[in-house]
Amino acid sequence: MKVLGIMGSPRRQSNTEILLDAALAGAKERGAEAEKVAVSELKISPCREIYACLKDGQCAIKDDMQRLYEKLLEADHIVFASPIFFYGITSQAKAMVDRCQALWVRRYVLGIGKGDNRIRRGAFISVGATQGKRLFDGAVLTVKYFFDAIGVKYAGDVLIRGIDGKAQIKEHPTALQDAFHLGQQLVHPDTKR
Ligand SMILES: Cc1cc2nc3c(=O)[nH]c(=O)nc-3n(C[C@H](O)[C@H](O)[C@H](O)COP(=O)(O)O)c2cc1C
Repeated sequence: MKVLGIMGSPRRQSNTEILLDAALAGAKERGAEAEKVAVSELKISPCREIYACLKDGQCAIKDDMQRLYEKLLEADHIVFASPIFFYGITSQAKAMVDRCQALWVRRYVLGIGKGDNRIRRGAFISVGATQGKRLFDGAVLTVKYFFDAIGVKYAGDVLIRGIDGKAQIKEHPTALQDAFHLGQQLVHPDTKR
């Protein structure tokens, strides 16, 4: 079983990456193979909305996204992680999500991959500096629709407010255990704490 972690923060060893690593450690503890991809280190151009993908589901832009499409399709489960930037996910992560319009076309327009009966689950991890009640609303909607576009069920999240400094998440009393448990549950949904 393969779990793909998508790291959407532009900084490394960020709050997001620390939480994602904990989630992937949880998935591995439950027997999964885990791989992490940092989108800021890939060349992923924004979607140009030319809809070349309507022909055969292939995106016309030849950049690092081509390799990531394969990983996204191959993964059994996905952990998507991004900090909140202006009430949404980072632009690096959003570029990747928008490029998945080609996978949406494959699935919902061309009917490619219909025979895939796997139940694929996805989890979302996010952090933001402020405390607002609706801090994660926009990002959660984006991620839910992203998961839906690629045939992944939104299975849970860890959303942490009040975190701003680099690696400040390490001081949080529960976040790392919560993320570890999220990763375990992604692989085995009945995992108790
Ligand atoms: C461009 C930018 C926009 C941000 N927008 C928000 C925001 O809308 N709300 C918020 O609570 N925090 C916002 N933040 C703060 C980050 O979410 C916060 O510092 C977070 O801990 C960064 O996570 P990271 O270490 O994983 O990159 C913003 C930070 C940056 C750099």
